[in-house]
Amino acid sequence: MWRLWTNASGVLLLLCVLTTTANAAYQVGVGRADCTGPVAEITLMGYAKLDQKGCGLHLRQFARAFIFDDGTNRVVFVSIDACMVGFSLKNAVVEKLQELYNTTYTHENFILSGTHTHGAPGGFLVDVMYDITELGFAHETFDAYTNGIFNAIKRAHENMASSRVYITSGEVDANINRSPASYDQNPEEEKKKYNGNTDQTLRQLKIIRDSDNVLIGAINWYAVHAVSLNNTNCLVTSDNVGYASILLESEYNQGSLIGQGSFVGAFASSNLGDVSPNMNGPICVNTGEECDYVTSTCNGENKYCIAMGPGDDMFESAEIIAKRLFEKSKVLLANDTAQELSGPIKFIHQWVDVPKKQIDIQLENGTVQSVSGCLPAMGYSFAAGTTDGPGEFDFKQGSSSDNPFWNIVRDFIFPPTPEDIDCHYPKPILIASGRIKVPYNWQPEIVSTQILLIGDFALIGVPGEFTTMSGRRMRDTVKNAIVSNGGSEDTEVVIAGLSNTYTSYIATYEEYQLQRYEGASTIFGPHTLQIYLSVYKTLAEALIKGDKVDAGPLPEDPDKSKLLSLITPVLFDTSGWFWNFGDVLEQPPKTVNVGDTVSVRFVAGHPRNDLMQEKTFLTVEKLGDNGKWNVIATDANFETRFKWTRTSLIKGASEAVVEWDIRDSVEPGTYRICHMGNYKPLWGDIQSYQGISNSFVVTST
Ligand SMILES: *[C@@H]1O[C@H](CO)[C@@H](O)[C@H](O)[C@H]1NC(C)=O
Ligand SMILES: *[C@@H]1O[C@H](CO)[C@@H](O)[C@H](O)[C@H]1NC(C)=O
Ligand SMILES: *[C@@H]1O[C@H](CO)[C@@H](O)[C@H](O)[C@H]1NC(C)=O
Ligand SMILES: *[C@@H]1O[C@H](CO)[C@@H](O)[C@H](O)[C@H]1NC(C)=O
Repeated sequence: MWRLWTNASGVLLLLCVLTTTANAAYQVGVGRADCTGPVAEITLMGYAKLDQKGCGLHLRQFARAFIFDDGTNRVVFVSIDACMVGFSLKNAVVEKLQELYNTTYTHENFILSGTHTHGAPGGFLVDVMYDITELGFAHETFDAYTNGIFNAIKRAHENMASSRVYITSGEVDANINRSPASYDQNPEEEKKKYNGNTDQTLRQLKIIRDSDNVLIGAINWYAVHAVSLNNTNCLVTSDNVGYASILLESEYNQGSLIGQGSFVGAFASSNLGDVSPNMNGPICVNTGEECDYVTSTCNGENKYCIAMGPGDDMFESAEIIAKRLFEKSKVLLANDTAQELSGPIKFIHQWVDVPKKQIDIQLENGTVQSVSGCLPAMGYSFAAGTTDGPGEFDFKQGSSSDNPFWNIVRDFIFPPTPEDIDCHYPKPILIASGRIKVPYNWQPEIVSTQILLIGDFALIGVPGEFTTMSGRRMRDTVKNAIVSNGGSEDTEVVIAGLSNTYTSYIATYEEYQLQRYEGASTIFGPHTLQIYLSVYKTLAEALIKGDKVDAGPLPEDPDKSKLLSLITPVLFDTSGWFWNFGDVLEQPPKTVNVGDTVSVRFVAGHPRNDLMQEKTFLTVEKLGDNGKWNVIATDANFETRFKWTRTSLIKGASEAVVEWDIRDSVEPGTYRICHMGNYKPLWGDIQSYQGISNSFVVTST
């Protein structure tokens, strides 16, 4: 190609430059935005534990967007630090995008995937079943996520640049199977094809900008539940995979605070349905003995059978898993043997009403049988939870009667019909969620199915949590369909987990028979996976051949203002007679050592008065030689924690504690801790305030 050049004496030269990148590069944009939801009082989504309400912030949530364009077609992938995503959320983002960019971004060319952190606020899925533990619809969470995802895509859209995209992979030992008894049910010949009962391959796309050869982004896919932090944690967090992203972004955005800097690095979810990060495995915490293999119980009780590790406590475990993922990602990014992607960008999408879907399957004896999906239903084992968080949704312990939302919907619970029982067999039905339409839908029936293709890379957006073997079958099916219809033998196929619609789990037919948690939560019945394999096979064939598929039935998006919500708004805040907001109730010591934790207590307002997106509830500041204070950490750092408590509901009083673990990398010097917040007076508008601690000295011994 020809380039304009100026030589040392300023003479303009026109030179012919030989470029090594013969292949047509793509236009790629990357963007990151803060999408942190309300950090207090809203139940965290994932463990379905009613009293696991937010009490502050450990790690901020981010949405990370990647746009790829070949000049003809454009596709978008977004990974969000949230437990999952749902149709209404994606629809709200698409509507907002279309106001700005018309039909550039649609449900069809955009995959929205949740990282599956169990430490982020819920109440945004709109389906009753999934919003119950949050006391219904939480518009603050919904709006926070909508804005964050939209902003991330907008930023990516605004920095599109000609770039090269590479694919590579490596193995990471950072997961175990939490339902090995279910996995064991799969056919022997099939299991023999694989090394173990989890996928440990981390697959990576890396993006290098042409103009300056700078690494601008990376997406890593790895199958692991983001449940290092267990159900005793009440701080909002992006958990192990979120922290892996923060480590990666800090590495390539040297000198930037977390959430800033132009390099964007995501760790996105994959077929993690039966995959746990708690690598020491389950143990009876009451006796130290092994749990029962098939039922994960200790003397018949599930609440004592808990998996932990690899660290000594849950924060250390999150850090160890994050570092393993980050280190491998860094090695892969530095490896220039990765395969460059070339070839057209394509996408295909279909809405599928799963309970109405009928397919033919071939039985072992050769007979062809017609099977269909079932209306959604949850089995009994769903209430038992998993070894990552036992006793989810445990009615027996009387928690239902403590929940006013449950009291309202309890009276509407419908018993399963004989057809339901037959269809879901051998699942004993606990909640016939597909039969209940009051006050509105309990679980989705119409799901999004989707494949994006970037050259020889196929990304499969799946509407839930595929188990390890379900994911393997899906990848094989899609790859075979691509290759047998003229696509490349080298096609790499990756599953983007928890994408677009959330419908709990997808276990294999064989795993389903055992009815552990994942089988009990396979909501469309025993043939759910076979139905999806058939749908995605058709999609892959059409994608390669360039055929169109039927759009399918568009799901309903209910009017958000009509959704049931028993979440109380913030009424007012007071600081008390003798205090002002931001006053320090407990100062740090005058001198602290590296290795200590500093803690400062402030008079605070309610964190829900302003979600502080793209801002911070705290800063750790270091006094510079010039006498100025420099921010060295915010509430997005792993080593800081923002903890909030209402000390008197009647008086509207509350306190915030800021904690800072002083790590080895902290330089000796003079520091202070600040807290930023907002309060709501009895009359008038919300006001912001700031509190500043006394300064203190950090010494290195
Ligand atoms: C928006 O897109 C539609 C179809 O893609 C097109 O018909 C219409 O003209 C576009 N509107 C604007 C304002 O560009
Ligand atoms: C959560 O992890 C902590 C260690 O950080 C442990 O003491 C506790 O037993 C765990 N609880 C559950 C329910 O997993
Ligand atoms: C780089 O990648 C190639 C191909 O995947 C692999 O064989 C090689 O070991 C890698 N090098 C490093 C340093 O990881
Ligand atoms: C094949 O197996 C199915 C289910 O076990 C059974 O209903 C059917 O009769 C069998 N067909 C033949 C030809 O044996």
